[in-house]
Amino acid sequence: MLQRGEELSLKILDSAFEGKSVARHGELVVFVEGGVPGDVATVRILKSKKNFAEAKVVKIETPSPLRVDPRCMYFGVCGGCKWQHVDYAAQLRFKQQHVVDAFERIGRFTNPAVIPILGSDECFFYRGKMEYSFAEQQWIWDGMPENPSTVPVFLGLHVPQRYDKVLDIRECLLQSDGSNKILNFTRAYARRTGQTVYNSDTESGYLRFLVIREGKRTNEVMVNLVTSSDDPETMQKYSAALLEECPFVTTVVNTINTRKAQIAFGETERVYHGTGIIHDMIGTYRFDISAGSFFQTNTVQAEKLYTAVKEFGAFKPADIVYDLYSGTGSIGIFLSGSVQSVIGIESVESAIRDAERNAQENGVTNCTFILGDLKDRLTKDKEWMTRSPKPDVMVIDPPRSGMHPKVVEEIAAIAPERIVYVSCNPATQARDAQLLCAERYTLEKLQPVDMFPHTFHIENVALFMRK
Ligand SMILES: C[S@@+](CC[C@H](N)C(=O)[O-])C[C@H]1O[C@@H](n2cnc3c(N)ncnc32)[C@H](O)[C@@H]1O
Repeated sequence: MLQRGEELSLKILDSAFEGKSVARHGELVVFVEGGVPGDVATVRILKSKKNFAEAKVVKIETPSPLRVDPRCMYFGVCGGCKWQHVDYAAQLRFKQQHVVDAFERIGRFTNPAVIPILGSDECFFYRGKMEYSFAEQQWIWDGMPENPSTVPVFLGLHVPQRYDKVLDIRECLLQSDGSNKILNFTRAYARRTGQTVYNSDTESGYLRFLVIREGKRTNEVMVNLVTSSDDPETMQKYSAALLEECPFVTTVVNTINTRKAQIAFGETERVYHGTGIIHDMIGTYRFDISAGSFFQTNTVQAEKLYTAVKEFGAFKPADIVYDLYSGTGSIGIFLSGSVQSVIGIESVESAIRDAERNAQENGVTNCTFILGDLKDRLTKDKEWMTRSPKPDVMVIDPPRSGMHPKVVEEIAAIAPERIVYVSCNPATQARDAQLLCAERYTLEKLQPVDMFPHTFHIENVALFMRK
């Protein structure tokens, strides 16, 4: 058995779930952090079990031909783009294979029909939302660009598992040049004007997060400064100075979070410039995005994803659609023009309000949204169903954890003819697919979509037909 701390030379054979790669030591499978298939590397054993081991690369001996030079100066330190050093075509192959593996190994399907993954035309600057943290200390690492500051205000992204320090980021390649300008201005302004950073141990200090949202199709930009208290004078001055430097900002919001929990949400929102809302488009539909509302992070790919949902659902004008886990209603609204009616179900009240407003502002009158936990809304609290027509199609887009088994059971009992299941986690999707197919469905086809280039995350659409 391998010993923890032992170093050995291995050839990396394949990519595995969660951004790891796979090597073999004799019969033993070794999951390796930091390797690219094709590398020969010295790895250090982190964990050793009877059937497998975990290791991390300490030295690349022969680099894989799939390696490319990462563009970002923070690559390898920042937790954001773990695959930036992998050729994009190879990233897509790995993601497609993960979907196949999940459905074969977890779902126990034989040769699932996977349509080639829809890659992203733009691999950088694709994100509509970035959330930067303030910290009093910065993360120091070997080879960091020179970054002296006598003022304890740093602003950037956390390195994985470190919440007390941030990488003081000058340029992130995920959102836009304008976003970087806002980031750098905000840090410099805070230092210049003597602002303090919130410290959750002492519960003192002002600045907590900087959230930048962009409407990729509208070029509208929201700057949301999350602070620990309400200080209108300070915010007014910041807003005026920001607009002078970055006149492309269309709205400035201040979210006030007085609680200890380090989250970029709060109890109060104040608007200092514009309406407090930006917009973005998916297809021909325009969506309101407020500081607290969810919106797809990659608008361009979201349109490809929803188009895949529409194709899979083969919607007809007479169809009744249930949109389960409907969030802010974007899928239901996108489909609304092709069907008779949509009923969305969602457990977050503010998302229901956003969905209703989004439908109204788009002149959509055939979508209704019901608040509630699906586990209850499909079982003990399903009186609404007696007032609603039975669905022809269900569109399902649950969180990463997938569906509660009871929900799967109830869906199979309601038995719509078609189910289109969207997931950001093929592992839980494959698990749920197995349950659906054990009841009364067959899995017809799968369409992976790459929403997040340079990360190992993958979105997948599955079509099920009633037997
Ligand atoms: C992946 S998102 C779906 C987003 C949605 N398609 C949209 O475009 O806004 C999953 C949604 O499921 C909701 N959710 C999570 N658990 C739920 C539950 N048990 N019952 C109902 N909704 C739930 C979350 O609040 C979230 O809005």
